[in-house]
Amino acid sequence: MNDSTAAKPWAGRFTEPTDAFVEAFTASVGFDRRLYRQDIAGSIAHARMLVRQGILSEAEGADIIAGLEAIAAQIERGEFNWSVPLEDVHMNIEAALITAIGEAGKRLHTGRSRNDQVATDIRLWLREETDAILAAIDRLQGVLLDLAEREADSVMPGLTHLQVAQPITFGHHMMAWYEMLERDAGRLADCRRRMNVMPLGAAALAGTSFPIDRDYTAALLGFDAAAENSLDAVSDRDFAIEFTAAAAILMMHLSRWSEELIIWSSAQFGLIELSDAYCTGSSIMPQKKNPDVPELVRGKSARIFGHLLALLTLMKGQPLAYNKDNQEDKEPLFDTVDNLRGSLLAFTGMLPGLQCRRERMRAAAMAGYATATDLADYLVRRGLPFRDAHEVVGKAVAFGVAGARDLAELSLEELRRFSPAIGPDVFTILTPEGSVAARDHHGGTAPAQVRAAIARKRARRAAAER
Ligand code: ARG
Repeated sequence: MNDSTAAKPWAGRFTEPTDAFVEAFTASVGFDRRLYRQDIAGSIAHARMLVRQGILSEAEGADIIAGLEAIAAQIERGEFNWSVPLEDVHMNIEAALITAIGEAGKRLHTGRSRNDQVATDIRLWLREETDAILAAIDRLQGVLLDLAEREADSVMPGLTHLQVAQPITFGHHMMAWYEMLERDAGRLADCRRRMNVMPLGAAALAGTSFPIDRDYTAALLGFDAAAENSLDAVSDRDFAIEFTAAAAILMMHLSRWSEELIIWSSAQFGLIELSDAYCTGSSIMPQKKNPDVPELVRGKSARIFGHLLALLTLMKGQPLAYNKDNQEDKEPLFDTVDNLRGSLLAFTGMLPGLQCRRERMRAAAMAGYATATDLADYLVRRGLPFRDAHEVVGKAVAFGVAGARDLAELSLEELRRFSPAIGPDVFTILTPEGSVAARDHHGGTAPAQVRAAIARKRARRAAAER
């Protein structure tokens, strides 16, 4: 036996040392050490349960807990010596505990396995991260509400097919983003509920012959329940897939917003200006101010979609119960969390500095005959069937196009050539302000409705805080 085999907790049945390459190839400590806090918390809860059940003595339990706490402090000070031959975070910490406290340390692994240990660690870790992400979404929503309120009256072109469709308010557009975030948060909260079930006690796959109390351990760790089935508890990573799916949808939303910010801030659209702090320049073109932050968020959505596919593929061929394949769940999950949190933070920082170029937005809203539907609705109120009104307005638009004039720039006489039902009051509805104000119902773009929507959200948020 070489030194590294001697150090391995499972070395008993082996006569040959692990191949050096295999040792490095199978190790996960390079990345799963990130789970050390959860691993130690899980071990402390397990030890307390073993003591309570009379499986460990009080003294052994006390030594284990003090030893683990000292290791946690050592890791936090950056003084822990992580060993690749010890494979992963679990065996590194256990070996350090045995070195520190001796005999009692060797008893900690009674009635458990690394299989239920790792399944527990990831759930604890992801639960915490999910809470942090929910808080980050909430902060971004707060910023969106402020922006929507500031621009509740600002008219802009609403687009379909990227063509000017009808005037809308910028505030209404911001509140569309708010709704998407609300559903994203709902998906994550939902996923958290299914995640918060404890695998510990499943041991390797079949449970343990010791008289453990899983409900006690679950309560100590803040789980809602202990998993019902030991095979399922150690083997499925559906909670990680579900989380990544919710993350992918959220990133898809952030990517769409990014695309809009990039387009709106281009010289051709010129509807908004992003703050200098969130843009970068070009090394060759001195005039450039590039929207790098939204571009990067749009780009980062790609890897998170990839992680979702990686986790699905990782799981699909695995027979029950645990397989080493599952070690591959961590890096995609860690990367998903890091980039999702970064993207949310970037948006939260970027939005308050966003300036609307209101004159250009208004001019753009006027440019594409955006109030044509308003004229049709006006004629319907004067008694025309909608289809006839549509036809009349189509002709009026064609006339405007020929002379390069908007409907609002035609004279009353000119408009009346298309329908005698048109009166002098028509001009109020042909302005973008008149158009948006007319859409004055729940869910509509009228400034009054945008303000009402903001007020409802603020009231709900205040109630949730209480
Ligand atoms: N490092 C392993 C993982 O991430 C821990 C569980 C190992 N279990 C085993 N039977 N080899 O999945």
